[in-house]
Amino acid sequence: MRFRAASSLHQRSRRARNEHTPPVDHGFPARLWRSPLRGPWLTSVFALVLLVGLPIVILTGLLSYIAYGPQFGQALPVDVGWLKLPTFDWPTRPVWLYRLSQGLHVGLGLVLIPVVLAKLWSVIPRLFVWPPSRSIAQVVERLSIAMLVGGILFEIVTGVLYIQYDYVYGFSFFPAHYYGAWVFIAGFLMHITVKLPRMLTGLRSMSLRKVLRTNRSDTRPEEPDADGLVAADPAPPTMSRRGALGLVGGGVLLTALVTVGQTIGGLARHLPLMLPPGDKTGPGPNDFRINKTAQGVGVEPAATGDSWRLTLRGGPTPVVLRREDLMALAQHRARLPIACVQGWSTVQSWSGVRLAELATLAGVSRPRSALVSSLGRKGYFNRATLQANAIGHPDAMLALRVNGADLSLDHGYPARVIVSALPGVHNTKWVTAIDFEAG
Ligand code: HEM
Repeated sequence: MRFRAASSLHQRSRRARNEHTPPVDHGFPARLWRSPLRGPWLTSVFALVLLVGLPIVILTGLLSYIAYGPQFGQALPVDVGWLKLPTFDWPTRPVWLYRLSQGLHVGLGLVLIPVVLAKLWSVIPRLFVWPPSRSIAQVVERLSIAMLVGGILFEIVTGVLYIQYDYVYGFSFFPAHYYGAWVFIAGFLMHITVKLPRMLTGLRSMSLRKVLRTNRSDTRPEEPDADGLVAADPAPPTMSRRGALGLVGGGVLLTALVTVGQTIGGLARHLPLMLPPGDKTGPGPNDFRINKTAQGVGVEPAATGDSWRLTLRGGPTPVVLRREDLMALAQHRARLPIACVQGWSTVQSWSGVRLAELATLAGVSRPRSALVSSLGRKGYFNRATLQANAIGHPDAMLALRVNGADLSLDHGYPARVIVSALPGVHNTKWVTAIDFEAG
């Protein structure tokens, strides 16, 4: 009753205003969307959250590309032509830099999913406007919307599948996610340019404090708008705007909770529901996350036994060392994280021989880069090039032990690289050779 009275009031006020503003009828099926909550204010609130959060996701995503070292041809398995970004040597301090940037990229990307879905719900009548465009300007605008919506949905779906190690899409994730990002960024920039003034007007049209104090029975539709977000024939409210914001906020909090374990590791790794399947760990002191097992990448245990040798190249003659030779050298100890591109990370206490010392042994006093090669099937993950500042970092080492025990086979026995602040893939396991390039 109360709502019907309010609704007829709303219609009367609309009629009064329509003496000045012609009614906007976006036709079938836009008329099907009858929620009384939909309108420029609610859309603008979701837009503001995305306006703050998504640039961080975009920026940290692009930084991850640079952290991989595209200057060594290892960021993407294909040449991206003019979409190549300017590169620089990724800083190796603070040690948690990549852990933070990639944790933010994946964590915030997941946490914002409920907001993206709520934003799409709030503008859904606009997606069904028919005919979709009446002028060249509208064609361009619709194209930008298609890039924006298609782009973000593609990035979310491929990103979520990738962190689940679910490669059902059948194409290479890295170039696809990279190209998809640029489609999204272009649509996003056009969208912000067109909608920013409207977002500011929308935010000013209602007081947040008042909305938070309004319960369901007192909830009224917003003033009719020229874009047709407000339903022409609103249904009675089934929840208040406060409830809708709480629902989306609850979705954000729940996603944050299940995601945080992946990012910070340790005990919290038992929390997440969204952990990739088969979260393997090792025995005793090696009890931390394994990304690729020895068996998974074709490392034969026999090749890691007595016959294993490390070859250092770059000087006048190659230097060949056994594991005992490495153990006899000065051992450095440091706590460093492994931060995976999938967003998870783990901090452990490593010990081994400093990379800088191995470079000196090889006869290269100031290496410009080092190509690390390892056992296992040839592919993307058993070779990595390290830049000068990564080799020279005082904690960068060829680790032989972790947490006071020998590395387990799955954690890279007999020796693995551990470097500071770089993507996890640079911490090559089962190392057999390091080629230092003189600076
Ligand atoms: C993933 C991010 C986003 C997606 C998928 C998205 C999607 C959309 C779509 C499909 C529409 C309807 C457009 C139309 O047909 O006219 C829309 C409207 C709107 N968007 Fe976004 N948007 C996003 C982010 C943002 C951001 C960051 C802002 C801040 C400037 C914003 C502000 C608005 C406003 C104010 C409207 C409503 C008014 C209108 O329809 O003209 N959006 N959005």
